[in-house]
Amino acid sequence: MLNFTEQDLTTLNTFGVAVNAKNYLKIRSTFATKKLIETGRLEESKFTILGGGSNLLFTYNPEGLVLHVAVPGLRIIKDEKDHVLIEAGSGVIWHDVVEFAVKNRLGGLENLALIPGFCGAAPIQNIGAYGAEIKDVFDHLTAINIKTGHTEIFNKTSCEFGYRTSVFKTKLKDKYIITRIVLKLNKKYKTNTSYKDLQNYFENKNVVTPGIKEVFDAVIEIRSAKLPNPNEVGNAGSFFKNPVISTKEFENLKKKFPEIPGYDINTGQVKVPAAWLIEQCGWKGKSKGNVGTWPNQALVIVNNGNATGLEILKFAKALHNDVKKKFGITLEPEVNIIGSEKSLF
Ligand code: EPU
Repeated sequence: MLNFTEQDLTTLNTFGVAVNAKNYLKIRSTFATKKLIETGRLEESKFTILGGGSNLLFTYNPEGLVLHVAVPGLRIIKDEKDHVLIEAGSGVIWHDVVEFAVKNRLGGLENLALIPGFCGAAPIQNIGAYGAEIKDVFDHLTAINIKTGHTEIFNKTSCEFGYRTSVFKTKLKDKYIITRIVLKLNKKYKTNTSYKDLQNYFENKNVVTPGIKEVFDAVIEIRSAKLPNPNEVGNAGSFFKNPVISTKEFENLKKKFPEIPGYDINTGQVKVPAAWLIEQCGWKGKSKGNVGTWPNQALVIVNNGNATGLEILKFAKALHNDVKKKFGITLEPEVNIIGSEKSLF
């Protein structure tokens, strides 16, 4: 019943890095996950959990078991006066959930259209785009404890969401397998177009209060123009997080670089676009061998052909070093680096 195989992972990671798993298992149900835990194989060997493969970089052939979690199913589980709860299996493609919500006139996901990947990974890194994050509509998730084999429920508080992070990236890393997520969507909904790109888009079209479908279409148009399609060009979206620095540090940098953009996020903290920092170091649209940055978005590192994971990592390290040298800011990868070379950062 548990079918362990050898598997080429080239098409299972959106960077398109050619790696091979000696020991691969695709899991489609909670039952199978529990059976696997009973075998003890997750405890004894190093393992890698793979979802849509859209936010990771393999630097070597992965050691140990590669567990491809692909639980299916997408349905409405509760229909209340103002809200609807929808449940998605961890293997459902994220964009399909967004489309499902928009078709059912449910608000809250439209800004998150076209983000690559599966639902199971969405809460792990609290996916976000165009002024929204999954945490805004998150209700709960179910996950299996790898040690006990028990199913547990995590609500918004216990997920400890932050900017592109959650408890599953920190103290509970590799301790749970997420099987299902539940989102709380709105029937009566006011769309959020505060993000600069969306604001400009609707201003140009003279649309004052766009509906859910209009925002969904706008996000698809903006993203498609700016970001490479992973089916055509290998990439994993933003390679680094946008760094958060103190207001004081920001004011000091502004003296030297008056054009530096920054967004206040908390009292005393400013988020600086990593894409701007990278661009100022001369890296926008530049390639070295098989690796480069995307001409329309300097934060996206692309595989121009047959790049290895190590080549991509070395390229990223060069951007990281140049930004450090010029601005004194340390960029932190957003992409999950698999392999011992992650210590490069
Ligand atoms: N900018 C540049 N050069 C560029 C691109 C952008 O200087 O080549 C500057 C501009 O000042 C621009 C600012 O960076 O106003 C922000 O750019 P953008 O709106 O493209 O967003 P981002 O901060 O680079 C974040 C997310 C993306 C998400 C977009 C849109 C992170 C790490 N990335 O990128 O998420 O799609 O906002 O909301 O927070 C992802 O996580 O993989 C991802 C693609």
